[in-house]
Amino acid sequence: MEVVIVPDAKAGGELIAGAMAQLLRRKPDALLGVATGSTPLPVYQALADQVRSGAVDTSRARIAQLDEYVGLPADHPESYRSVVRREVLEPLGIGPDAFMGPDGSAEDVQAACEAYDKALGEAGGIDLQLLGIGTDGHIGFNEPCSSLVSRTRIKTLTEQTRADNARFFEGDVDQVPHHVITQGIGTILEARHLVLLATGEGKADAIAATVEGPLAAVCPASALQLHPHATVVVDEAAAGKL
Ligand code: GLP
Repeated sequence: MEVVIVPDAKAGGELIAGAMAQLLRRKPDALLGVATGSTPLPVYQALADQVRSGAVDTSRARIAQLDEYVGLPADHPESYRSVVRREVLEPLGIGPDAFMGPDGSAEDVQAACEAYDKALGEAGGIDLQLLGIGTDGHIGFNEPCSSLVSRTRIKTLTEQTRADNARFFEGDVDQVPHHVITQGIGTILEARHLVLLATGEGKADAIAATVEGPLAAVCPASALQLHPHATVVVDEAAAGKL
């Protein structure tokens, strides 16, 4: 695992956007796995700047979603499908046909999970998966004690994660769904390059456990230790306990 400490979130965003741009120059139809949350925003902004300046061409790029709430209609503003459209697809000029994501409003959620896991493989696998990290060390929505070989499946959120995400639902934890679909840890580990970005001191404990702790399901992000090409990008604050 490679750990890169950057001065701030903007620098982290630029570094990762640079890696994505380089990948797209080498492989124009690369499949980029994207995460939601506040942390990856500087990445998408920096990449959008590169698209606007003509430094990178996203006309053949493909986007895969990491996770999704169960039970929110797809057009709900906080469904991750809406978030990805707003924060990734539109700014990067990527159309809906080049997007793949789990269906959180499917009648048969389990079947939707299996179908998405299979579709990722059939699409040739993810070339670069961007990850954030929860304060409890979760990646995607794989909460602590998720199996390290898990596949895309339905999970129940911990109260901590629901409280952390309440800010996206008018601060009202009751509006945060209890259930989610997430790519499993085993699924995530199949991406060719994993890039985890963490910023702010609130992530310092989780980053210390990820990078220096034992490989353990209690810190799902520690699974990155198993991956042959994993990069952890942290600002000074998130690196504070390394
Ligand atoms: C959610 C997402 C994760 C994300 C995490 C951290 O739980 N499912 O993919 O990494 O939030 O979000 P933030 O970057 O806003 O701290």
